[in-house]
Amino acid sequence: MRVIVQPDGDSIASLVAESIVRLVNDKPNAVLGFATGSSPLGIYRELIKAYQEGKVSFKDAWGFQLDEYVGLPADHPELYRNVIRTVIESHVDFSEGRVHAPNGTADDLQAAGPAYDTMIEDAGGVDFQILGIGTDGHIAFNEPGSSFSQGTHVETLTPQTREDNARFFDGDISRVPTHTLTQGLGTIMKAKKLVLVAEGEGKAEAIAQLIEGPVSAHWPATIMQHHADATVLIDEAAASKL
Ligand code: GLP
Repeated sequence: MRVIVQPDGDSIASLVAESIVRLVNDKPNAVLGFATGSSPLGIYRELIKAYQEGKVSFKDAWGFQLDEYVGLPADHPELYRNVIRTVIESHVDFSEGRVHAPNGTADDLQAAGPAYDTMIEDAGGVDFQILGIGTDGHIAFNEPGSSFSQGTHVETLTPQTREDNARFFDGDISRVPTHTLTQGLGTIMKAKKLVLVAEGEGKAEAIAQLIEGPVSAHWPATIMQHHADATVLIDEAAASKL
């Protein structure tokens, strides 16, 4: 696993966006893995800038989101499908039907997971997976105790994650959904390249476990230590417990 410490989030975002632009220019039908949360927002801003400057086109590329809340109405601004539309998709030139999220409103959620994994495989598998990390070491919504081999599945959120994410729901934890449909660690590990970004002291413990701890389901992100092409980009505050 490569670890790159940068002075701030802007330099992390530029490095990651440059690498995505290079990939999409080399392979126009690249499959990109999108994460939500605040950590990747700078990357999306840089990608939009590169597109507006004519440095890249996404018209043949694919996007697959990591996860989705279960039970939010289709027009809810925090539905991850809507978040990705707002922060990247609507500002660049993805072709219709090329960006997907797990279907958190499916009648049969158990079937929606494997169906999503099949869609990813049919598109050729994820080439470049962007990841953030939760304070409890979760990636996507794979909470502590998750299986390392699972595909896309329904996950129950921990009180810690619901509290962390309450800021997106007017600070009201009771509005944060209790369940999600998330790519499993098995799905994520199939991506050809994993790039995890994190900023701030709040992530320092999870980052220390990710980089220096044993591979353990208590800290789900640690499975990345077994990936052949994984990079972690962090600022100095997130690196402070290394
Ligand atoms: C959510 C998302 C994760 C994300 C995490 C951290 O739980 N499901 O994919 O990594 O939040 O979010 P942030 O980057 O806002 O700290």
